Formats: sequence, C-alpha cells, structure tokens
Amino acid sequence: MKKMMSVMMAALLAATMVGCSNTPSSDEGKIQIGVVQIMEHRSLDTIREAFLEEMETLGYGEDKVEFQIQNAQGEQSNLGTICKKFVGDKVDMIVAIATPTAQAAAAATSDIPIVFSAVTDPVEAKLMEDMQKPNKNVTGTSDAIPVDQVMQLCKQLTPQVKKIGFLYTASEINAQVTAEKAIREAEKMGYKTELVTISEISELQQAAQKLAQDVDAIYVPIDNTIAQAMQTLAQVGIEHKIPIYTGADSMVNDGGFATVGIEYRQLGKQTAHIAQKILEGTPVSEVPAETLNQFGTFINPNTAKAIGIEIPQEIAQTATMLGE
Ligand code: TRP
Repeated sequence: MKKMMSVMMAALLAATMVGCSNTPSSDEGKIQIGVVQIMEHRSLDTIREAFLEEMETLGYGEDKVEFQIQNAQGEQSNLGTICKKFVGDKVDMIVAIATPTAQAAAAATSDIPIVFSAVTDPVEAKLMEDMQKPNKNVTGTSDAIPVDQVMQLCKQLTPQVKKIGFLYTASEINAQVTAEKAIREAEKMGYKTELVTISEISELQQAAQKLAQDVDAIYVPIDNTIAQAMQTLAQVGIEHKIPIYTGADSMVNDGGFATVGIEYRQLGKQTAHIAQKILEGTPVSEVPAETLNQFGTFINPNTAKAIGIEIPQEIAQTATMLGE
C-alpha cells in the first residue's frame, strides 16, 4: 500500500511538473516597468544604466521585472506616444529620466506611479507642489546643483574673467531655472552678464560663436539639448580660447572646461531605491523626492591646456579630471 501511494505521488508530481512546463513562457506575473528618457546623451545613459544595475542588486533584476526601455530621440511627440503605450500596457511603474520625460509621463497618467530621475526642479516643472510631500502619483530624484559654487570656481580658476555669457534652450525649464540662478549669483559677485537662448539644436553653433566674441567665459546649465551637442560648443570655446563652465560632469567630459556638480551614477542608484520602496507597497505620497548633497569639482585638463589655463595645484588635487 505504502509503495502504491508513493507511485501515485510520483505520478502526480510528474503530472504537475509537465503542467508547469506547459505554462506559456510569457512574462505574465512579472512586474512591468517602463523606463523612458528624452534622448541619448552621456549623463542620461549613465543614470539609466546605474538605475538598472541597482534594481538588480535590490532583487528587481530581469528575472522578476520586465523592463520596457524607450528613448524619444529628442522628440516631444515621441515621449507622448511612449508614455501612452506604457499606460495602455498597464505597466506597474514608469521611470522617467529628465524633466520633459517626467512631464510627459505625468500628463499620460494620474494613477500609475511615476518615479522620475534627474529632474532639476520638480516644483518649477509642475510635477509636485512640495518636494517633501508628493500629492500625486509622482516622486523621484532631483539633480539640483550648486550654481553658486560653479561661479566661485570660475573666480578661482579664471580670475581674469569679467563678463560671462549664459546660453540655454528656452523650452527646457530645467535649464532656464539653473541659468537664472547662475545669472543672479554672477551679478551678485560683480560679473557682467549676457544671456542668449536657442530654440533648437541647429541654432547652437551660431549662437555660441556670436556670444563667444562678446564674453570672457560661457556658462551652460543642465540643458539636455546642448548636452547632446556638447562637442560643438566645446569647439567654439577652444577656438575663442574661453572657458566653458557647465551644469554637469558629462558636459566637462565632452569637452567643456569645468563644473561643480553631482555624481549621476549615484543619482541613478538612488532612483532605484525610491522605486523599490514603492514596489514594496509604500504609497507614493509617503515617498519624498530626494536630492544629492554631495558635490564634486570636475575639470577637463585637455580643454584647460587648449585654452591656456593652468589649474592650481590645490584645486587639481581634489578635482576629478575628465575627458579623453
Ligand atoms: N536635469 C536634466 C533635466 O531636468 C536632465 C539631465 C541629467 C541633464 N543629466 C544631465 C541635462 C546632464 C544635461 C546634462 O531634464
């Protein structure tokens, strides 16, 4: 009898196992996360990679999560289409990298949790009214940066500069907010300022050439459009032998001169921790948006050399050197 039971058990077990292998190998049951960025540039790519790596470390790797990874190629209309598709697919969460992306995601859904990354000013971008208390389905990480420290770096590294030109893409609220702060800071420090905005990337070269003739240094904020074409701008700086201070380390890496800013890998990882909290059941309204409060100085020594600027030893010692 005992033997018979065990034979039956074995048969039953075998049947269930066959049953298992017959279940369709679709991703049913996996958590669905839509990840979207406005375009590809060095910094946004770093954020996405760091986010995905940290998700894996936190136990949300591809065995558990199906990530739909999308990029809008710089087109606002693509962003809308991508976010609507995520909503149609009923994803469990949208991870939106950069301001225009987060705005498109927020316009597409008011119930699917949206975790944004690297939104410079979530309040000005109208994603939240209070960074500490999300009142919608939206929270995430901000890459607000210390523009006052960039202006001080300008004074230290290039004391001969009297007039700074500010250049940004008018449609990017993240760039506008940062540039306006930087202008106020520069004027407080006694610099003369000049402001030029562009409406699209094709205007960059000419606008930069014109500005470079008029000023001793240029500052470009955290501007996605310009970041994507940073090499073009860097070339103008080198031609005119003027330093270009930037909003992000990636723009220094791509030929800008120097900045004080955040570490974007860290920001991507922090975004994963916010996603984890929400996936584990904390309501979005209880997950405040976060900023990074550790800043580093980044300098491109090749650019320094090309424009004839020597980096004082005490600054070189603590700065991170970037560029090929
Ligand atoms: N902060 C930008 C935004 O709000 C996105 C961004 C992240 C960025 N890293 C950057 C822009 C580097 C330019 C350069 O949209």
